[in-house]
Amino acid sequence: MGTRSLLNRRLTGMGTTIFVEMSALAVATGSINLGQGFPDTDGPHEIAQVAASAVLAGRGNQYPPGPGIPELRTAIAEHQQRFYGLTYDPDTEVLVTAGATEALAAALLALLEPGDEVIAFEPFYDSYAACIAMAGATRVPLTLRAPSFRPDLDELRSLITPRTRLLLLNTPHNPTGTVLTPEEVAVIAELAVEHDLLVITDEVYEHLVFAGTHHPLAALPGMRERTVAISSAGKTFSFTGWKVGWVTATPELVAAVRTAKQYLTFVSAGPFQYAVAEALRLPDTYFADFRADLHRKRDLLSAGLTAAGFRVFEPQGTYFITTDITPLGERDGLDFCRSLPERCGVVAIPNVVFYDNTDAGRSHVRFTFCKQDAVLERAIERLAGLQGR
Ligand SMILES: Cc1ncc(COP(=O)(O)O)c(C=O)c1O
Repeated sequence: MGTRSLLNRRLTGMGTTIFVEMSALAVATGSINLGQGFPDTDGPHEIAQVAASAVLAGRGNQYPPGPGIPELRTAIAEHQQRFYGLTYDPDTEVLVTAGATEALAAALLALLEPGDEVIAFEPFYDSYAACIAMAGATRVPLTLRAPSFRPDLDELRSLITPRTRLLLLNTPHNPTGTVLTPEEVAVIAELAVEHDLLVITDEVYEHLVFAGTHHPLAALPGMRERTVAISSAGKTFSFTGWKVGWVTATPELVAAVRTAKQYLTFVSAGPFQYAVAEALRLPDTYFADFRADLHRKRDLLSAGLTAAGFRVFEPQGTYFITTDITPLGERDGLDFCRSLPERCGVVAIPNVVFYDNTDAGRSHVRFTFCKQDAVLERAIERLAGLQGR
């Protein structure tokens, strides 16, 4: 095979994701996995029934239409109208993707030229770094710093250069739980307009906001024409394995993203698209109950982690809690997470892997609370003994 490295330079250092490593450790040690963000209870039975019936009725078993089935595109447009007052044409301004992950990949591959700069909040969701790299672009981190994890908007201004093409924004933000305020969103929008930047918004936790509300950037003046808004059904409806995501944007932006998307998966999840169309039309009570349930779980885990000696940074949204392990006499989150399963049978994720400026996140560790109460309680019991070990 010669001496040349098999993995290309763009992906060097991006070997196995931390989620694979930590989930394997959870299985190997029989630990409670509060690492990867997937619920241990499936979403609404009636929605699962729609998917099962679609399979049996032969709906979506063959390649669905490239942009997504019309029923789902219409439901996505209705959802944007219902929750945010945003109007999108289901035929030209909505694109169904294989989860938000494919939407992000397709948008970055379509919109970036090699050498472009992309500003993104760090800690960043791990696929951002990989997709920016695959596009040959450069990531420029705007570090969200403890304890508030608010973006420093003066710093954002100073990071913009003539090479900046795009802002990649995640709100509610994984892993810090930061939810952008109307004031922050307004300043970011002004900067995007002033510097003629494209914006990709990752809004997969849009329905998991416990303090304040979710503010889509596309709703601000001058933003609709430059924003590729991305979301997905995985988190909102607790069906992360279905991988149904979507893009809403202008026809020009959707056409660009679709060009890349058609060579990634082309299409996916036929029968599930019918089910997600139904899910998006669930009554307001579904969304309110889902949020209230997760809010309660957040408080349960937050209290347990505090009692166990962690410093807890209370998240305003998402289903993650970021903690600082310094009060436990620990400093290195990666070492801590690698030893935690042996020490007390719990798996967590070290935030440091989501940073370029690793010092800012070295002692931070993330736990998810999208698990059954009994599982969270057992994890809390196990963590409570940590200080003596
Ligand atoms: C911030 C963020 N974006 C995107 C995704 C991926 O979403 P999907 O499962 O729809 O691809 C996740 C999943 O954890 C996430 O946390």
